[in-house]
Amino acid sequence: MGRVEGKVAFITGAARGQGRSHALRLAQEGADIIAIDYLEDLPENPYPPATEEDLVETVRQVEALDRRIIASKADVRDFDALKAAVDDGVAQLGRLDIVSANAGIAGRPNLSEDVPEDEWMRMIDINLNGVWRTAKAAIPHLKAGGRGGSIILTSSDAGLFPYANISHYVSAKHGVVGLMRTLALELAPDFIRVNSVHPTTVDTLMVQNDGIYRLFRPDLENPTKDDFAQAAVAMNALPIPWVEAVDISNAVLFLASDESRYITGVPLPVDAGAAIK
Ligand SMILES: NC(=O)c1ccc[n+]([C@@H]2O[C@H](COP(=O)([O-])OP(=O)(O)OC[C@H]3O[C@@H](n4cnc5c(N)ncnc54)[C@H](O)[C@@H]3O)[C@@H](O)[C@H]2O)c1
Repeated sequence: MGRVEGKVAFITGAARGQGRSHALRLAQEGADIIAIDYLEDLPENPYPPATEEDLVETVRQVEALDRRIIASKADVRDFDALKAAVDDGVAQLGRLDIVSANAGIAGRPNLSEDVPEDEWMRMIDINLNGVWRTAKAAIPHLKAGGRGGSIILTSSDAGLFPYANISHYVSAKHGVVGLMRTLALELAPDFIRVNSVHPTTVDTLMVQNDGIYRLFRPDLENPTKDDFAQAAVAMNALPIPWVEAVDISNAVLFLASDESRYITGVPLPVDAGAAIK
């Protein structure tokens, strides 16, 4: 028996990175998957968008584990699209138990007074409002199942303490904690648990790109991955520059499974001790 055998998980931002890793880890432990991703460019992101091919690859890898997956293109800024995706997934897979609100963007670093208003709005609309819309689309299915459920919101260490030059990201990720705590209270009578995960730097395209290298190494003209690693290691207590996507997936799996059945309302750092530095 897998740790989430027979359950169905709805995952946003599932085409690549942590979202794909969550889909695979949950599928390895017996879950079927409803996956969505945006698959289009966001002008200020200093890294390439996820593609149709990425989402197809997530589907291929989940199916290789003999689990079912319903994948579609949807933007977390579009409630109707999210609702259609989750409604269709539940119609095909029969139930919903787990929600991973993982989709997010890094945006472009700037001093707070220099952030263009449209970039601020877009950040909040994806990284905070998108998480709320994901929960809003999923909650009626969790309640209708009558079996409880687990919602896991992806925040960040930037949801627990500040980082200069990314106040829009920090604000959105702090907001996710308020949403998580409120949902946990509201949904507890239905045995629907709500927690958030707070990764330190994760080895994905969101951080492994030239824009982030330059943000962390303004002292160098052409910083490399190794140069970034030297700066990244200083943020963690454990002497590593970053964690792997599967490290976050293992926390998501634990929170999704009945092993955490009485854990709700908790912001869980998966951060190599960054929060205690
Ligand atoms: N990588 C890190 O260091 C790090 C650290 C802490 C938190 N996080 C958070 O982890 C989550 C996953 O990020 P990742 O590291 O896998 O990066 P990633 O860029 O590889 O994955 C993010 C995914 O979200 C999707 N997405 C973006 N905007 C979307 C939208 N409007 N609608 C639907 N999907 C959208 C992207 O297409 C992409 O597939 C994000 O919420 C991010 O903020 C990342």
